[in-house]
Amino acid sequence: MQTIIEPFRIKSVEPIYFTTKAERRDILEKAGFNPFRIHADHVLIDLLTDSGTSAMSSNQWAGIMQGDESYAGSASFFRFEKTVRDITGFRIVIPVHQGRAAEKILFSVIGGSGKYFISNTLFDTTRANIEFSGSTGIDLPCAEGKIPSVPAPFKGNIDTEALEAVIRDKGAKNIPMVIMTITNNSGGGQPVSMRNIRETGRICRQHGIPFFIDACRFAENSYFIRQREEGYADKSIPEIAREIFSYADGCTMSAKKDAFANIGGFLALDDLDLAIRCRNMLIITEGFTTYGGLAGRDLEAIAIGLKEVMDENYLAYRIRSIEYLGDKLVKAGVPVMQPAGGHAVYIDAKAMLPHIPVDAYPGQALVCALYEEGGIRSVEIGSLMFGKYDQGGRLLPAAMELVRLAIPRRVYTQSHIDYVAEVIIAVFRHKECIKGLRILEETPLLRHFTARLEPLK
Ligand code: F0G
Repeated sequence: MQTIIEPFRIKSVEPIYFTTKAERRDILEKAGFNPFRIHADHVLIDLLTDSGTSAMSSNQWAGIMQGDESYAGSASFFRFEKTVRDITGFRIVIPVHQGRAAEKILFSVIGGSGKYFISNTLFDTTRANIEFSGSTGIDLPCAEGKIPSVPAPFKGNIDTEALEAVIRDKGAKNIPMVIMTITNNSGGGQPVSMRNIRETGRICRQHGIPFFIDACRFAENSYFIRQREEGYADKSIPEIAREIFSYADGCTMSAKKDAFANIGGFLALDDLDLAIRCRNMLIITEGFTTYGGLAGRDLEAIAIGLKEVMDENYLAYRIRSIEYLGDKLVKAGVPVMQPAGGHAVYIDAKAMLPHIPVDAYPGQALVCALYEEGGIRSVEIGSLMFGKYDQGGRLLPAAMELVRLAIPRRVYTQSHIDYVAEVIIAVFRHKECIKGLRILEETPLLRHFTARLEPLK
């Protein structure tokens, strides 16, 4: 097989800055062993997130110059609206400054105490916005999604039997919405099958529950469906995406992922009553309905990016480049979530560091070790991010202790990725020396962003 190459060439570059291991040890200590608190100039390869970190194309930059900054009725808005309508089929398009703004608006309108939101797995900001409204979020990932070491084609699926059971138990009237996250970010960047989306849509319709897609990575998910699901090999990415959205009543989207934008997002739906309530919130918190917290130029960049992301050559390169890193780690014996996700490789820190109990945060300990060893910034998706306390103050751990290496879109080359694999493998070879951590300071919601920790003696 020929090498799958980057389907672009580079017109503009930016420097990255080198630090020594001794400097990084000091930096980590000052940052409370939380790489969210590290100055980005002190990071060599930044795999913290694929969100807002994409390289924009020359076309997007050209679009930026065409941005119409009119307060109301901007031409850029209408181009943006048409693109979102064409891709999703939803008639009403509400721009917002990023995905969580769509979540905040939606859940403050339909959430509230005594209500349940069900998902394959809610992303952390989605869950936080649900909980902030007073509601409860329930994750129902499929069985194979919970075992990192066992590969399966659609580990992002929701468990539809469990979904029906929870609907019976809680009552459809107490469930304002079911949300399908594609790809399932917190569950390993794993895709959801068309069949699972269709079936979930059917169950929701049967019970009169609105069904929304968290569509941040809809193009990556569509590509996996094309590759892995019977009957889709000859369908185009836009056709697959359109079918996905056809089973849903609406979507939220962070354009910072599969739209190659550095900022932006939207809420798209068909329900006019709900849209009116959301737009009221939008005007109070984000801005007028034709810009929603964005500049006209951002709307242009998103509209262009949304079309570019569905290019088959790009998606083939994108999915392969993640798999390439995953393959290298698997070959070296590093326990990773299998198969590789669409935007990231997830290391199974619980399996790699069995000497660190979950209440000493093995994922975060590994995140720190990767930074110290090679200046790589990653993120823990485990008990620091999702852990809660019981009434006795004991940690209720997350289902998995993962470390996510999220790959920004069109940013790093193959040699950067080779370096990342070398660093991880070096850490893996001396993994027994890695120490657990304890929390010194934390906030009640989304504590992983700001917590300070220290290594255990
Ligand atoms: N939903 C999913 C599945 C996400 O991955 C994110 C963001 C959001 C919603 C919120 O969007 O950041 O634009 O407000 N994920 C980023 C990440 C932050 O690193 O995975 P946002």
